[in-house]
Amino acid sequence: MFCLPPKGDGQNVYNKVMEKMWAGRFSKALDKKADDFNSSISFDCRMYKQDITGSMAHAAMLAKQGIISAEDHEKILEGLCGILADIDSGKLEIDMNCEDIHMFVEAELTARIGDYGKKLHTARSRNDQVALDIRLYLRDKSEEILALLHELVEAICEQAEANKAVIMPGYTHLQRAQPITFGHHLMAYAMMLLRDISRVRDAVARMNYSPLGSCALAGTTYNTDREFVAEKLGFDGITQNSIDGVSDRDFCLELMSAFSIIMMHLSRFSEEIILWSSWEFSFVELDDSFTTGSSIMPQKKNSDMAELVRGKTGRVYGNLFALLTTLKGLPLAYNKDMQEDKEAIFDSIDNVIACLDIFAPMIRTMKVKKENMYKAAQRGFINATDLADYLTKRGMPFRSAYKIVGQIVAECIEKNLVLDTLPIEAYKAHSEIFDTDLFDEISLETCVSKRISAGGTSVSSVEKQIAYVKKELAK
Ligand code: ARG
Repeated sequence: MFCLPPKGDGQNVYNKVMEKMWAGRFSKALDKKADDFNSSISFDCRMYKQDITGSMAHAAMLAKQGIISAEDHEKILEGLCGILADIDSGKLEIDMNCEDIHMFVEAELTARIGDYGKKLHTARSRNDQVALDIRLYLRDKSEEILALLHELVEAICEQAEANKAVIMPGYTHLQRAQPITFGHHLMAYAMMLLRDISRVRDAVARMNYSPLGSCALAGTTYNTDREFVAEKLGFDGITQNSIDGVSDRDFCLELMSAFSIIMMHLSRFSEEIILWSSWEFSFVELDDSFTTGSSIMPQKKNSDMAELVRGKTGRVYGNLFALLTTLKGLPLAYNKDMQEDKEAIFDSIDNVIACLDIFAPMIRTMKVKKENMYKAAQRGFINATDLADYLTKRGMPFRSAYKIVGQIVAECIEKNLVLDTLPIEAYKAHSEIFDTDLFDEISLETCVSKRISAGGTSVSSVEKQIAYVKKELAK
């Protein structure tokens, strides 16, 4: 798609054809600065396809209802098809001197087919037109986002499958807590993203009702068929109140909050990847093709992509709050403030798409440093819970066992030992229940393999989680 920049004198072919649409009511031309300020075409031009598709359905309805003739319809359809094809191919440039994409398409149509084009806007307002266009646009973009979410979940499942037996420390408070597998850790993100998929789907389902035919706000005296248009455009039905039809932007907010949650998930994941990539952790290494160097420090390999994802999360949240704030004081029905919806939601969409697009291949190509993960798991007493469970399973109440193990940990720290290297005699001094089989029971391998509870960290449990996610993805 090509866009013509605005010309200094504001002169263009459409001005010649139409002047300002509303010139009849006015005795003076719009101030140039006010004209620019008012204009949305620089950003709503991206909805040209949806605008034209909506107009095609509207024209078909007008003809079916006898509001325009079959000949009018034929000419309009031909004209719209030509405009769509010409914008797609780059032959027709969208003129930035027009106020918005709706006016551009109508003006271009009239320039091409004359008076026939002037009939298109019968029984329609830009208020219901823009409400329709955004829904169509968001529906298309949501499909793109859903496909990217699928791809990312698949990439995570692949890495989880390959690392289902790789032992690492699991953390709480960023303190080593209990041994887990890397596959288990990764699958936590798969579950989050699965919920994201369902959230986006829910929002799209609620959005999928056509507002067209609400007109300016009150409906119309023409005998229109709103259901016909809705069906033609793939909606599940029509909005039931024309005032709500033109003033509702809940669907933008719902999607923007779903996008914010996606970004929050990606940001948490990014934060971990950044930590894991540090020398201090050295749990993973991102592929060279997804990292950058420094202009001064020759040794550096930075996780810029993950950092940018974390950084972009802020603006996606910001867009949600900007629109919430824009809408909070608006009286019904349409107000020009609502034109502010588009830059916010477009920016969120662009950034979510860019982040998801980079994330899947970054995860797929990430190298896992198993030995370092295992080494980290050997320090930090992460098998202490299992030692307490050892006593509990042999008859000691858990709280008593918990206390004894706490004392044993303190003793190990003092002697610079770990639970696996403390001699059996030292154990026996704390409780006669201890025997040499405890060492097998608290080995990292046992700690992991025995956690077969549903959703737990054992290999068999992680395999079930992967199978569950794959089944959900296939739905
Ligand atoms: N550009 C406008 C928007 O994005 C289109 C609707 C204009 N309607 C109006 N009555 N001025 O909201």
